[in-house]
Amino acid sequence: MTDQDRKPPRPSRRGFFVTAGSLVAAGGVGFGAQAASAPVAKPPSKPAIEPFWGVRQGGILTPTQNNTYFAAFDLTTTKRDDVVKLLRLWTEAAARLTRGQPAAAFGVDQSVPAGDSGEDIGLSPARLTITFGFGPGLFVKDGKDRYGLADQRPEALVDLPRFNGDQLVPARTGGDLSIQACADDPQVAFHAVRQLSAMAYDIAEMRWVQAGFSAQPAGEKTPRNLLGFKDGTRQPDKIDDMVWVGPEGPAWLRGGSYLVVRRIRISLEHWDRMNVDFQEQTIGRHKYSGAPLGKKHEFDAVDLDKTDAEGMPVMPENAHVRLSHSSSNDGAQIYRRGYSYNDGVAFTAERWPPWKQGMLYDAGLLFVAYQRDPRTGFIKIFGNSSKFDMLNQFATHVGSGLFACPPGVQQGGYIGQTLFEA
Ligand code: HEM
Repeated sequence: MTDQDRKPPRPSRRGFFVTAGSLVAAGGVGFGAQAASAPVAKPPSKPAIEPFWGVRQGGILTPTQNNTYFAAFDLTTTKRDDVVKLLRLWTEAAARLTRGQPAAAFGVDQSVPAGDSGEDIGLSPARLTITFGFGPGLFVKDGKDRYGLADQRPEALVDLPRFNGDQLVPARTGGDLSIQACADDPQVAFHAVRQLSAMAYDIAEMRWVQAGFSAQPAGEKTPRNLLGFKDGTRQPDKIDDMVWVGPEGPAWLRGGSYLVVRRIRISLEHWDRMNVDFQEQTIGRHKYSGAPLGKKHEFDAVDLDKTDAEGMPVMPENAHVRLSHSSSNDGAQIYRRGYSYNDGVAFTAERWPPWKQGMLYDAGLLFVAYQRDPRTGFIKIFGNSSKFDMLNQFATHVGSGLFACPPGVQQGGYIGQTLFEA
Protein backbone atom coordinates (compact mmCIF):
# COMPACT_ATOMS: atom_id res chain seq x y z
CA MET A 1 0.00 0.00 0.00
CA THR A 2 1.38 3.46 -0.84
CA ASP A 3 0.98 6.53 1.35
CA GLN A 4 -1.42 7.86 -1.23
CA ASP A 5 -3.69 4.81 -0.82
CA ARG A 6 -3.88 5.39 2.90
CA LYS A 7 -5.27 8.89 2.58
CA PRO A 8 -8.96 9.17 3.48
CA PRO A 9 -10.95 9.52 0.27
CA ARG A 10 -12.14 13.08 0.78
CA PRO A 11 -10.12 15.01 3.33
CA SER A 12 -11.91 18.27 2.54
CA ARG A 13 -15.65 18.67 2.87
CA ARG A 14 -15.32 21.91 0.95
CA GLY A 15 -13.80 19.97 -1.91
CA PHE A 16 -16.96 17.89 -2.01
CA PHE A 17 -19.06 20.91 -2.78
CA VAL A 18 -16.68 22.33 -5.29
CA THR A 19 -16.80 18.99 -7.07
CA ALA A 20 -20.57 18.85 -6.96
CA GLY A 21 -20.75 22.41 -8.26
CA SER A 22 -18.33 21.69 -11.07
CA LEU A 23 -20.41 18.72 -12.11
CA VAL A 24 -23.45 20.94 -12.51
CA ALA A 25 -21.40 23.46 -14.47
CA ALA A 26 -19.91 20.68 -16.57
CA GLY A 27 -23.43 19.51 -17.46
CA GLY A 28 -23.91 22.73 -19.41
CA VAL A 29 -20.70 22.41 -21.41
CA GLY A 30 -20.58 18.97 -22.88
CA PHE A 31 -20.82 16.18 -20.25
CA GLY A 32 -24.61 16.37 -20.57
CA ALA A 33 -25.81 12.75 -20.49
CA GLN A 34 -23.33 11.54 -17.84
CA ALA A 35 -23.81 14.51 -15.53
CA ALA A 36 -27.59 14.28 -15.72
CA SER A 37 -27.64 10.71 -14.42
CA ALA A 38 -24.87 11.20 -11.83
CA PRO A 39 -25.99 11.86 -8.25
CA VAL A 40 -25.36 15.54 -7.76
CA ALA A 41 -25.55 17.11 -4.31
CA LYS A 42 -28.44 19.54 -4.01
CA PRO A 43 -26.94 23.02 -3.76
CA PRO A 44 -27.43 24.38 -0.24
CA SER A 45 -29.99 27.18 -0.03
CA LYS A 46 -27.64 29.26 2.13
CA PRO A 47 -23.86 29.46 1.57
CA ALA A 48 -22.37 26.49 3.39
CA ILE A 49 -19.42 28.41 4.84
CA GLU A 50 -19.73 31.05 7.55
CA PRO A 51 -16.64 33.25 7.94
CA PHE A 52 -14.46 32.48 10.94
CA TRP A 53 -11.92 35.33 10.88
CA GLY A 54 -13.33 38.78 11.56
CA VAL A 55 -14.06 41.57 13.99
CA ARG A 56 -16.83 39.59 15.71
CA GLN A 57 -17.08 35.92 16.59
CA GLY A 58 -19.47 33.91 14.45
CA GLY A 59 -22.42 32.10 16.02
CA ILE A 60 -23.74 35.13 17.86
CA LEU A 61 -25.67 37.15 15.28
CA THR A 62 -25.23 34.49 12.58
CA PRO A 63 -28.72 33.36 11.45
CA THR A 64 -29.47 30.42 13.73
CA GLN A 65 -28.35 27.04 12.40
CA ASN A 66 -30.48 23.94 12.93
CA ASN A 67 -28.22 22.23 15.47
CA THR A 68 -25.87 23.01 18.28
CA TYR A 69 -23.36 21.20 20.43
CA PHE A 70 -22.34 23.17 23.49
CA ALA A 71 -19.45 22.22 25.77
CA ALA A 72 -18.04 23.76 28.95
CA PHE A 73 -14.51 22.91 30.10
CA ASP A 74 -12.57 23.07 33.35
CA LEU A 75 -8.94 24.10 33.01
CA THR A 76 -6.70 21.55 34.73
CA THR A 77 -3.31 23.08 33.93
CA THR A 78 -1.51 25.45 36.27
CA LYS A 79 0.42 27.14 33.45
CA ARG A 80 -0.70 30.27 31.63
CA ASP A 81 1.37 29.23 28.58
CA ASP A 82 -0.68 26.05 28.30
CA VAL A 83 -3.88 28.06 28.14
CA VAL A 84 -2.45 30.23 25.36
CA LYS A 85 -1.22 27.12 23.55
CA LEU A 86 -4.70 25.61 23.71
CA LEU A 87 -6.38 28.79 22.47
CA ARG A 88 -3.94 28.94 19.55
CA LEU A 89 -4.65 25.33 18.66
CA TRP A 90 -8.39 25.85 18.96
CA THR A 91 -8.28 28.97 16.80
CA GLU A 92 -6.40 27.30 13.95
CA ALA A 93 -8.57 24.20 14.13
CA ALA A 94 -11.81 26.21 14.26
CA ALA A 95 -10.76 28.19 11.19
CA ARG A 96 -10.18 24.93 9.33
CA LEU A 97 -13.31 23.17 10.54
CA THR A 98 -15.60 26.06 9.60
CA ARG A 99 -14.12 25.92 6.09
CA GLY A 100 -14.96 22.21 5.92
CA GLN A 101 -11.39 21.04 6.40
CA PRO A 102 -10.17 18.52 8.97
CA ALA A 103 -9.10 19.94 12.33
CA ALA A 104 -5.53 18.83 11.57
CA ALA A 105 -4.02 16.96 8.65
CA PHE A 106 -5.05 13.30 8.65
CA GLY A 107 -1.45 12.21 8.15
CA VAL A 108 -0.31 9.18 6.19
CA ASP A 109 1.04 6.98 8.96
CA GLN A 110 -1.76 4.63 9.95
CA SER A 111 0.14 3.36 12.97
CA VAL A 112 -0.62 6.62 14.86
CA PRO A 113 -3.93 8.33 15.58
CA ALA A 114 -5.13 10.54 12.73
CA GLY A 115 -5.31 14.32 13.09
CA ASP A 116 -9.08 14.21 12.75
CA SER A 117 -11.66 11.55 13.58
CA GLY A 118 -13.19 11.89 10.13
CA GLU A 119 -16.92 11.42 10.67
CA ASP A 120 -17.65 14.52 8.62
CA ILE A 121 -15.75 13.42 5.51
CA GLY A 122 -18.00 14.16 2.55
CA LEU A 123 -20.39 16.37 4.53
CA SER A 124 -21.06 20.02 3.81
CA PRO A 125 -19.51 22.56 6.25
CA ALA A 126 -23.20 23.20 7.04
CA ARG A 127 -22.64 26.85 8.10
CA LEU A 128 -20.59 25.69 11.06
CA THR A 129 -19.70 28.40 13.55
CA ILE A 130 -17.60 27.93 16.68
CA THR A 131 -18.00 30.48 19.45
CA PHE A 132 -15.58 30.60 22.38
CA GLY A 133 -16.27 31.96 25.85
CA PHE A 134 -14.35 32.54 29.09
CA GLY A 135 -15.98 31.68 32.43
CA PRO A 136 -15.17 33.31 35.79
CA GLY A 137 -12.82 30.41 36.64
CA LEU A 138 -10.34 31.47 33.96
CA PHE A 139 -9.71 34.59 36.04
CA VAL A 140 -10.11 33.38 39.61
CA LYS A 141 -10.89 29.89 40.82
CA ASP A 142 -11.35 28.94 44.48
CA GLY A 143 -9.74 32.27 45.35
CA LYS A 144 -6.65 31.51 43.23
CA ASP A 145 -5.34 33.62 40.36
CA ARG A 146 -3.99 30.63 38.40
CA TYR A 147 -2.97 32.47 35.24
CA GLY A 148 -2.27 36.05 36.38
CA LEU A 149 -5.57 37.25 34.93
CA ALA A 150 -7.49 38.19 38.11
CA ASP A 151 -7.27 41.92 37.51
CA GLN A 152 -8.58 41.50 33.95
CA ARG A 153 -11.82 39.90 35.10
CA PRO A 154 -14.66 42.06 33.81
CA GLU A 155 -16.96 43.39 36.51
CA ALA A 156 -19.92 42.11 34.53
CA LEU A 157 -18.58 38.53 34.59
CA VAL A 158 -20.24 37.90 37.92
CA ASP A 159 -21.07 34.62 39.57
CA LEU A 160 -24.73 34.29 38.60
CA PRO A 161 -27.00 34.69 41.62
CA ARG A 162 -29.29 31.90 42.71
CA PHE A 163 -32.68 32.52 41.13
CA ASN A 164 -36.04 31.51 42.53
CA GLY A 165 -36.75 27.87 41.69
CA ASP A 166 -33.21 27.07 40.50
CA GLN A 167 -32.34 23.38 40.82
CA LEU A 168 -28.89 23.58 39.29
CA VAL A 169 -26.87 20.41 39.06
CA PRO A 170 -23.13 21.10 39.57
CA ALA A 171 -22.24 18.63 36.79
CA ARG A 172 -24.21 20.79 34.32
CA THR A 173 -23.18 24.18 35.65
CA GLY A 174 -20.23 26.54 35.21
CA GLY A 175 -17.01 26.01 33.32
CA ASP A 176 -13.77 27.96 32.78
CA LEU A 177 -14.06 27.88 28.97
CA SER A 178 -16.99 27.31 26.62
CA ILE A 179 -17.32 26.24 23.03
CA GLN A 180 -20.59 26.47 21.16
CA ALA A 181 -20.60 24.77 17.77
CA CYS A 182 -23.66 25.50 15.63
CA ALA A 183 -24.30 23.92 12.23
CA ASP A 184 -27.14 22.87 9.98
CA ASP A 185 -26.00 19.27 10.47
CA PRO A 186 -25.78 17.68 13.97
CA GLN A 187 -22.86 15.48 12.95
CA VAL A 188 -20.83 18.49 11.84
CA ALA A 189 -21.49 20.33 15.13
CA PHE A 190 -20.59 17.29 17.25
CA HIS A 191 -17.53 16.56 15.15
CA ALA A 192 -16.19 20.08 15.72
CA VAL A 193 -16.43 19.90 19.51
CA ARG A 194 -15.01 16.39 19.51
CA GLN A 195 -11.86 17.53 17.66
CA LEU A 196 -11.36 20.57 19.87
CA SER A 197 -11.82 18.67 23.11
CA ALA A 198 -9.27 16.07 21.97
CA MET A 199 -6.73 18.90 21.61
CA ALA A 200 -7.30 19.96 25.23
CA TYR A 201 -5.76 16.80 26.67
CA ASP A 202 -3.75 17.59 29.82
CA ILE A 203 -4.82 21.25 29.74
CA ALA A 204 -8.60 21.21 30.12
CA GLU A 205 -11.32 18.64 30.48
CA MET A 206 -14.97 18.65 29.61
CA ARG A 207 -17.30 19.60 32.42
CA TRP A 208 -20.67 19.40 30.70
CA VAL A 209 -22.15 19.25 27.22
CA GLN A 210 -25.52 19.74 25.65
CA ALA A 211 -26.78 19.04 22.15
CA GLY A 212 -29.75 20.96 20.79
CA PHE A 213 -31.93 21.33 17.71
CA SER A 214 -34.04 24.08 16.18
CA ALA A 215 -35.95 23.43 12.97
CA GLN A 216 -36.86 26.31 10.67
CA PRO A 217 -40.32 25.83 9.13
CA ALA A 218 -40.34 26.53 5.38
CA GLY A 219 -41.33 30.10 4.58
CA GLU A 220 -41.36 31.21 8.23
CA LYS A 221 -38.90 33.30 10.19
CA THR A 222 -39.32 31.76 13.62
CA PRO A 223 -38.74 28.19 14.81
CA ARG A 224 -41.05 26.56 17.37
CA ASN A 225 -39.92 25.26 20.75
CA LEU A 226 -41.13 22.07 22.42
CA LEU A 227 -44.15 23.92 23.83
CA GLY A 228 -45.31 24.23 20.22
CA PHE A 229 -44.94 28.04 20.36
CA LYS A 230 -42.86 30.22 18.08
CA ASP A 231 -39.76 31.19 20.01
CA GLY A 232 -37.50 34.07 19.02
CA THR A 233 -40.10 36.44 17.61
CA ARG A 234 -39.28 39.53 19.62
CA GLN A 235 -35.59 40.39 19.70
CA PRO A 236 -33.89 43.65 20.75
CA ASP A 237 -34.84 46.71 18.70
CA LYS A 238 -31.25 47.96 18.42
CA ILE A 239 -29.50 44.67 18.36
CA ASP A 240 -25.89 45.89 18.08
CA ASP A 241 -26.31 48.16 21.11
CA MET A 242 -27.71 45.31 23.18
CA VAL A 243 -25.28 42.54 22.22
CA TRP A 244 -21.75 43.94 21.86
CA VAL A 245 -19.60 45.12 24.77
CA GLY A 246 -18.66 48.78 24.31
CA PRO A 247 -16.31 51.25 26.03
CA GLU A 248 -17.89 50.47 29.40
CA GLY A 249 -16.18 47.04 29.37
CA PRO A 250 -12.46 46.17 29.62
CA ALA A 251 -10.50 46.95 26.44
CA TRP A 252 -9.82 43.25 25.75
CA LEU A 253 -13.55 42.45 25.58
CA ARG A 254 -14.79 45.33 23.41
CA GLY A 255 -16.66 43.95 20.45
CA GLY A 256 -17.30 40.74 22.36
CA SER A 257 -20.43 39.70 24.22
CA TYR A 258 -21.69 37.80 27.25
CA LEU A 259 -23.30 34.41 26.87
CA VAL A 260 -25.83 33.09 29.36
CA VAL A 261 -26.69 29.46 28.84
CA ARG A 262 -29.34 27.60 30.86
CA ARG A 263 -30.47 24.02 30.55
CA ILE A 264 -34.18 24.34 31.28
CA ARG A 265 -36.09 21.14 31.67
CA ILE A 266 -39.74 21.43 30.66
CA SER A 267 -42.42 19.11 31.98
CA LEU A 268 -43.82 18.24 28.56
CA GLU A 269 -46.23 15.68 30.00
CA HIS A 270 -47.77 18.37 32.22
CA TRP A 271 -47.82 21.00 29.45
CA ASP A 272 -49.53 18.67 26.99
CA ARG A 273 -52.44 18.27 29.41
CA MET A 274 -53.17 22.01 29.47
CA ASN A 275 -55.82 23.42 27.16
CA VAL A 276 -54.55 25.74 24.46
CA ASP A 277 -56.26 28.79 25.99
CA PHE A 278 -54.32 28.28 29.19
CA GLN A 279 -51.07 27.72 27.30
CA GLU A 280 -51.62 31.01 25.47
CA GLN A 281 -52.31 32.88 28.73
CA THR A 282 -49.12 31.40 30.17
CA ILE A 283 -46.94 32.58 27.30
CA GLY A 284 -48.86 35.73 26.38
CA ARG A 285 -49.05 34.87 22.69
CA HIS A 286 -51.38 32.92 20.44
CA LYS A 287 -50.06 29.45 19.81
CA TYR A 288 -50.56 29.00 16.09
CA SER A 289 -50.08 32.53 14.69
CA GLY A 290 -47.49 33.60 17.28
CA ALA A 291 -49.33 36.95 17.64
CA PRO A 292 -49.28 38.68 21.03
CA LEU A 293 -52.55 38.15 22.95
CA GLY A 294 -55.20 40.45 21.51
CA LYS A 295 -53.34 40.88 18.20
CA LYS A 296 -53.54 39.09 14.84
CA HIS A 297 -50.04 38.73 13.43
CA GLU A 298 -46.79 37.39 14.79
CA PHE A 299 -44.87 40.65 14.49
CA ASP A 300 -47.64 42.93 15.78
CA ALA A 301 -46.41 45.02 18.70
CA VAL A 302 -46.93 43.64 22.19
CA ASP A 303 -49.46 45.87 24.03
CA LEU A 304 -49.21 45.47 27.79
CA ASP A 305 -51.85 48.10 28.55
CA LYS A 306 -54.74 46.68 26.53
CA THR A 307 -57.79 45.68 28.62
CA ASP A 308 -60.86 43.62 27.76
CA ALA A 309 -64.56 44.62 28.10
CA GLU A 310 -64.37 43.95 31.85
CA GLY A 311 -61.29 46.08 32.28
CA MET A 312 -59.00 43.07 32.79
CA PRO A 313 -55.55 43.09 31.16
CA VAL A 314 -55.53 41.14 27.87
CA MET A 315 -51.94 40.14 28.66
CA PRO A 316 -52.10 38.43 32.09
CA GLU A 317 -49.99 39.93 34.86
CA ASN A 318 -47.94 36.73 35.14
CA ALA A 319 -47.63 35.88 31.42
CA HIS A 320 -44.10 35.07 30.26
CA VAL A 321 -44.09 37.77 27.59
CA ARG A 322 -45.26 40.51 29.97
CA LEU A 323 -42.67 39.67 32.62
CA SER A 324 -39.82 39.29 30.11
CA HIS A 325 -40.70 42.39 28.10
CA SER A 326 -38.29 45.32 28.16
CA SER A 327 -40.93 47.68 29.54
CA SER A 328 -41.36 45.45 32.61
CA ASN A 329 -37.59 45.42 33.17
CA ASP A 330 -36.30 48.99 32.92
CA GLY A 331 -35.59 48.57 29.21
CA ALA A 332 -33.50 45.37 29.57
CA GLN A 333 -33.17 43.39 26.33
CA ILE A 334 -31.21 40.26 25.40
CA TYR A 335 -30.66 38.43 22.14
CA ARG A 336 -32.08 34.90 22.49
CA ARG A 337 -30.69 32.15 20.28
CA GLY A 338 -31.98 29.03 21.98
CA TYR A 339 -32.29 25.38 21.00
CA SER A 340 -34.57 22.58 22.11
CA TYR A 341 -33.02 19.48 23.60
CA ASN A 342 -34.19 15.93 24.16
CA ASP A 343 -32.00 13.57 26.16
CA GLY A 344 -34.48 10.70 26.30
CA VAL A 345 -36.95 9.45 28.82
CA ALA A 346 -36.67 8.50 32.49
CA PHE A 347 -38.97 5.71 33.58
CA THR A 348 -40.54 6.11 36.97
CA ALA A 349 -42.86 4.15 39.23
CA GLU A 350 -44.71 7.36 40.11
CA ARG A 351 -48.13 7.86 38.55
CA TRP A 352 -49.27 10.90 40.46
CA PRO A 353 -49.87 13.69 39.42
CA PRO A 354 -51.77 12.25 36.46
CA TRP A 355 -49.27 13.48 33.86
CA LYS A 356 -46.67 11.17 35.35
CA GLN A 357 -47.57 8.10 33.35
CA GLY A 358 -44.59 6.08 34.32
CA MET A 359 -42.21 8.18 32.24
CA LEU A 360 -40.80 11.68 32.07
CA TYR A 361 -38.97 13.27 29.20
CA ASP A 362 -35.61 14.80 29.93
CA ALA A 363 -36.29 17.52 27.40
CA GLY A 364 -36.65 21.27 27.24
CA LEU A 365 -34.86 24.40 26.21
CA LEU A 366 -31.15 25.04 25.96
CA PHE A 367 -31.64 28.75 26.59
CA VAL A 368 -28.84 30.72 24.94
CA ALA A 369 -28.78 34.50 25.21
CA TYR A 370 -26.15 37.08 24.24
CA GLN A 371 -26.01 40.50 25.79
CA ARG A 372 -23.83 43.51 26.42
CA ASP A 373 -23.99 43.16 30.21
CA PRO A 374 -25.63 40.25 32.05
CA ARG A 375 -26.37 42.41 35.09
CA THR A 376 -28.68 44.63 33.06
CA GLY A 377 -29.70 41.76 30.75
CA PHE A 378 -30.44 38.20 31.85
CA ILE A 379 -30.07 38.84 35.60
CA LYS A 380 -32.43 41.80 35.46
CA ILE A 381 -35.11 40.01 33.43
CA PHE A 382 -34.93 36.59 35.04
CA GLY A 383 -34.62 38.09 38.53
CA ASN A 384 -38.14 39.35 37.86
CA SER A 385 -39.71 36.50 35.88
CA SER A 386 -38.25 33.69 38.04
CA LYS A 387 -40.52 34.92 40.85
CA PHE A 388 -43.81 35.45 39.07
CA ASP A 389 -43.88 33.77 35.65
CA MET A 390 -46.71 31.24 35.08
CA LEU A 391 -44.30 29.33 32.86
CA ASN A 392 -42.25 28.41 35.94
CA GLN A 393 -44.68 25.65 36.91
CA PHE A 394 -43.55 23.80 33.78
CA ALA A 395 -39.87 24.78 33.68
CA THR A 396 -36.94 23.88 35.93
CA HIS A 397 -33.47 25.33 35.45
CA VAL A 398 -31.01 22.48 35.96
CA GLY A 399 -27.86 23.76 34.23
CA SER A 400 -26.26 27.18 33.87
CA GLY A 401 -23.23 29.12 32.72
CA LEU A 402 -22.04 32.66 32.15
CA PHE A 403 -19.17 33.30 29.74
CA ALA A 404 -17.47 36.39 28.38
CA CYS A 405 -17.04 35.83 24.64
CA PRO A 406 -14.04 37.77 23.35
CA PRO A 407 -14.18 39.69 20.05
CA GLY A 408 -13.39 37.94 16.80
CA VAL A 409 -9.87 37.30 15.59
CA GLN A 410 -8.00 38.15 12.41
CA GLN A 411 -6.01 35.53 10.53
CA GLY A 412 -2.69 34.86 12.28
CA GLY A 413 -4.06 35.80 15.70
CA TYR A 414 -5.74 33.62 18.31
CA ILE A 415 -8.95 33.82 20.23
CA GLY A 416 -8.46 35.72 23.48
CA GLN A 417 -5.20 37.31 22.31
CA THR A 418 -6.52 40.71 23.42
CA LEU A 419 -6.77 39.31 26.96
CA PHE A 420 -3.46 37.45 27.18
CA GLU A 421 -1.43 40.17 25.50
CA ALA A 422 -3.19 43.14 27.15
C1 HEM B 1 -38.72 26.96 29.36
C2 HEM B 1 -38.20 28.12 29.21
C3 HEM B 1 -38.68 29.15 28.23
C4 HEM B 1 -39.53 29.03 27.18
C5 HEM B 1 -40.21 27.77 26.70
C6 HEM B 1 -39.67 30.34 26.58
C7 HEM B 1 -40.49 30.64 25.51
C8 HEM B 1 -40.74 31.90 25.04
C9 HEM B 1 -41.72 32.23 24.05
C10 HEM B 1 -42.63 31.23 23.34
C11 HEM B 1 -41.69 33.56 23.86
C12 HEM B 1 -42.59 34.39 22.92
C13 HEM B 1 -42.06 34.52 21.53
C14 HEM B 1 -40.88 35.42 21.37
O1 HEM B 1 -40.97 36.64 21.41
O2 HEM B 1 -39.79 34.87 21.18
C15 HEM B 1 -40.65 34.10 24.72
C16 HEM B 1 -40.29 35.41 24.81
C17 HEM B 1 -39.28 35.88 25.60
N1 HEM B 1 -38.55 35.16 26.52
FE1 HEM B 1 -38.76 33.21 26.93
N2 HEM B 1 -38.87 31.22 27.27
C18 HEM B 1 -38.26 30.53 28.28
C19 HEM B 1 -37.39 31.03 29.20
C20 HEM B 1 -36.93 32.33 29.22
C21 HEM B 1 -35.99 32.83 30.17
C22 HEM B 1 -35.29 32.04 31.28
C23 HEM B 1 -35.79 34.13 29.87
C24 HEM B 1 -34.82 34.98 30.63
C25 HEM B 1 -34.55 36.18 30.58
C26 HEM B 1 -36.64 34.46 28.72
C27 HEM B 1 -36.73 35.67 28.08
C28 HEM B 1 -37.63 36.00 27.08
C29 HEM B 1 -37.73 37.30 26.48
C30 HEM B 1 -36.85 38.51 26.79
C31 HEM B 1 -38.79 37.25 25.56
C32 HEM B 1 -39.31 38.37 24.68
C33 HEM B 1 -40.40 39.13 25.42
C34 HEM B 1 -40.89 40.29 24.58
O3 HEM B 1 -40.16 41.27 24.49
O4 HEM B 1 -41.99 40.20 24.03
N3 HEM B 1 -37.32 33.33 28.36
N4 HEM B 1 -40.10 33.06 25.44
